[in-house]
Amino acid sequence: MTGEEIFADTIARDQRVEPRDWMPDGYRQTLIRQIAQHAHSEIIGMQPEGEWITRAPSLRRKAILLAKVQDEAGHGLYLYSAAETLGADRGDLTQRLIEGRQKYSSIFNYPTLSFADVGVIGWLVDGAAICNQVPLCRSSFGPYARAMIRICKEESFHQRQGYELLMTMMGGTPEQRDMVQDAVDRWWWPSLMMFGPPDADSPNSARSMAWKIKRHSNDELRQRFVDMSVPQAEALGVTLPDPELRWNAEREHYDFGTPDWSELQRVITGDGPLNRQRIARRRQADSDGAWVREAAAAYAEKQRSAGNGSGR
Ligand code: 3HC
Repeated sequence: MTGEEIFADTIARDQRVEPRDWMPDGYRQTLIRQIAQHAHSEIIGMQPEGEWITRAPSLRRKAILLAKVQDEAGHGLYLYSAAETLGADRGDLTQRLIEGRQKYSSIFNYPTLSFADVGVIGWLVDGAAICNQVPLCRSSFGPYARAMIRICKEESFHQRQGYELLMTMMGGTPEQRDMVQDAVDRWWWPSLMMFGPPDADSPNSARSMAWKIKRHSNDELRQRFVDMSVPQAEALGVTLPDPELRWNAEREHYDFGTPDWSELQRVITGDGPLNRQRIARRRQADSDGAWVREAAAAYAEKQRSAGNGSGR
């Protein structure tokens, strides 16, 4: 069998493609694009919540938030490592992000205005990420699927700590309950946009699903997220800001309104509330960390030349 036939047979049999296997260049490029965008999202995603670490209302909340933000950094590293198995270079991917030639999730361009936002990000944003990432545990590319298995375990903690934070606030003062509802009002629609444009406007979905990189369409996963979130919102005692939201017994799903796709397009193309600030901080962090990368590279080179000297 040719490499092409082996690849097609591997996909058809729901087996995993590994880095050393033959793969179509389009498969490789689509994976680098999606995995890089995913990794960038994890790293940029540290900023919105990271801003509240110094202002957490208790040592317990600070410790939980620290752990979560650190987890996101680790998720980014697993994903950059998965991209490197495809021949991508982590430094190059970071430059593409900084120069606006690669994307990160639109959701992280919105401001975190109160500590309730930390809870809503855990509940809704990490909840949406779970809906999107659990199917990716069955992605056809081995390193991506395996990274997802580890990440999804940690996302469950992220979502639960957010929901527990909100439950605590909803049991608090009227002002705290108002803070939670205000955060839900601001984060609900951007969370729906995390799943991408409607299937009809998704240029990548068909091919990604044919190659079993993606297992479900954007609209399918968005519907799954809405169906999961509505009962949780009721248990929490908050109102989701969508007058069209109602159970459809015939479909056995919730009907919901249409997100503002022009807003998604604006945010994706750099014109969101905080795009410039998020990228400026990423650029600064990359510059501040240059000396560490240079020192590590110099040390590795010294080790290599010392090793060559001893005849190894
Ligand atoms: N934000 C930014 N860009 C988006 C987007 C969004 N919400 N939705 C779509 N896009 C971009 C796509 O990247 C694509 O642009 P590109 O071709 O230049 O990459 C274009 O809009 C068209 O969208 P498609 O639906 O055709 O693209 P995909 O098939 O790639 O689907 C996706 C988009 C569903 C986001 C898919 O890329 C995906 O599943 N990515 C991996 C998972 C991910 O990134 N999750 C969200 C962030 S991770 C996170 O939330 C971390 C958690 O810990 C908080």
